[in-house]
Amino acid sequence: MVRTDPAATPLCFALVPCAGSGSRAAMSGPKQYARLAGRSVVAHTLRALGAVQRLRATLVVLAPDDTAFEAAAAGFAGERAWVARVGGATRAASVANGLAELRRRGDGDDDWVLVHDAARCLIRPPWVDRLIDACADDPVGGLLALPVADTLERALGAAGGGVTDESGAVEALGQRPLLVRGEVENFKLTWPGDFALAARLLASSPALDEAAV
Ligand code: CTP
Ligand code: MG
Repeated sequence: MVRTDPAATPLCFALVPCAGSGSRAAMSGPKQYARLAGRSVVAHTLRALGAVQRLRATLVVLAPDDTAFEAAAAGFAGERAWVARVGGATRAASVANGLAELRRRGDGDDDWVLVHDAARCLIRPPWVDRLIDACADDPVGGLLALPVADTLERALGAAGGGVTDESGAVEALGQRPLLVRGEVENFKLTWPGDFALAARLLASSPALDEAAV
């Protein structure tokens, strides 16, 4: 069902790619299910998104053979909590499949979809609200981004040091998204050392509004 009322306020959905294997994190299982500060990585992510009242629903994209999500994110329930086992071979494929699933579930031409990695578990509701506010009148949409502080060196070879567009979306679509100032804390847990740092930050971050989760 695609809404046709031109006066209808666009809805916002979150799409959470959660179908990766976390090879660089070198853990025994996918990194989104690692536990830190009392919850799994993806449970932290989903709690924060659930506290953003303007999100109509959050769709989590799992690998077709995922058996860990329900136990790892037991609090993810209710009519705003959606799951689809349509993950693909790459993050971009998981996102594309998730977008198609949102279409099937009724998102419309003018609605917004916020894509947020399961592995970015330090996201905070005000940062999502800031992005939505900044993009409301933008024809393309936007990303939370940071100006580079360090010198970037491009390493030759495939030893894990190459610089790539992790999202793939910007290049693939040829679009120019708005770059909205993000937070250095909103980093993606990627390497083994990232988990202890994230746990420390989560332990000291302000409480989410529990009533809103
Ligand atoms: N992701 C996904 N589908 C894939 C690959 C990744 O949904 N085929 C998700 C991951 O679960 C993660 C996010 O995309 O939440 C960011 O990707 P990345 O950090 O690259 O995670 P992994 O691919 O799991 O890790 P690695 O690249 O180290 O194997
Ligand atoms: Mg990856």
